[in-house]
Amino acid sequence: MRPPRLSRRAAALAPSSTTAVARKAKALAATGVDVVDLGLGEPDFPTPDFVGAAGIAAIESGRTRYTDVAGEPALRDAIAEKYRREHGIALSRENVLVTAGAKQAVFNACQVLFEAEDEVALFCPYWVSFPEMVRLSGASPLYVPTELETHWKPIASDLAERATERTRGVILNSPNNPTGAVVEREQLESIVEWCEARDSCMIFDETYDRFLYDGRPHVTAASLREEHPDRIVLTGAASKTWAMTGWRLGWAIASRELIDAMASYQSHSTSNASSISQRAALGALSDPAQTDEAVARMLAEYGRRRETMVSGLAAIPGVRCLLPEGAFYAFADVSALYGAKQVAGSAEFCERLLSETGVAAVPGDAFGEDDCVRFSFAAPLASIEEGVGRIAAWAAAPVRSA
Ligand SMILES: Cc1ncc(COP(=O)(O)O)c(C=O)c1O
Repeated sequence: MRPPRLSRRAAALAPSSTTAVARKAKALAATGVDVVDLGLGEPDFPTPDFVGAAGIAAIESGRTRYTDVAGEPALRDAIAEKYRREHGIALSRENVLVTAGAKQAVFNACQVLFEAEDEVALFCPYWVSFPEMVRLSGASPLYVPTELETHWKPIASDLAERATERTRGVILNSPNNPTGAVVEREQLESIVEWCEARDSCMIFDETYDRFLYDGRPHVTAASLREEHPDRIVLTGAASKTWAMTGWRLGWAIASRELIDAMASYQSHSTSNASSISQRAALGALSDPAQTDEAVARMLAEYGRRRETMVSGLAAIPGVRCLLPEGAFYAFADVSALYGAKQVAGSAEFCERLLSETGVAAVPGDAFGEDDCVRFSFAAPLASIEEGVGRIAAWAAAPVRSA
């Protein structure tokens, strides 16, 4: 029996490392090991009741049929209204596409914007799925490094320096997964102006737009849409704001032409996002007061965990870790421990950490930075304290012989 022949596209695809870590951690826990999971990238809070109630009402009132591919008109209006309320920009429903999560929004945008021979610039460290999404469009990723010393901030001149004639777009994520870095406004403006001058597009992924610390404001490309309406695709989601990862509900904001193209693409792939989830998201977006309350509660708790995790990690000799400005990850440079632990890089480091301490974390090479490891603080404070304690003891211990 011969295995089926895979397309070159599928054969070249790397599975997501973040889900691979989750699988390994689960398998280890199933053998009875007390695993501390700092790998997961999703809120550990429940979806707020008022949002769940809107979903239940949708089922009970029989809203179980196909909707418009681009989403229910009322939800598209509510998403446009969010941008008016939060950023003072005028959008109409024709500028909004409802998707099955921010992931599908970025994926659709890549599919309609890029093709073979194109390059798409990604600031590194990048979210794991960006390079594969670019490759699945036929284009190639072009990596633009950012540095811990400059707080992992994207710098427009680095993009301009590395870009070639073939660079047709850029994907920017702020606050960033895995570093938490928030782009500076003047850098963002320069990147959009660079796109304008080059007839390129920027996909601006603001999945973590409500999760910034120390009162830092979210810097969004939404405010640049008016001046550069054809250069920007914004992508966002209900996933983190309302702890709705499993509901699969996100959106893209762009020019009418781009939204139409993405909707056509989506009409032949998944059609509409779940009708139930759309109603739940409508309930969420229609109640800014309860939303602000729920977000404030989560943010305060993430803030406590951030302090505990980062101060604990940074105190370990050989670990460098900054306080992230947003999102819920600590991205620590652990490369000074590689020699003492006799590991070749972040993947081996995380495997050893998991098997020898039961702490799950995601290797930085999944994000294009092999010196680092991502620890999620979307985990209870007690798990973070326990996990950091185990990491500190392990880092200080001599290497076990095999
Ligand atoms: C930067 C970034 N973009 C997009 C997503 C995907 O979001 P969704 O679950 O809404 O598809 C994630 C999820 O972790 C993310 O970190």
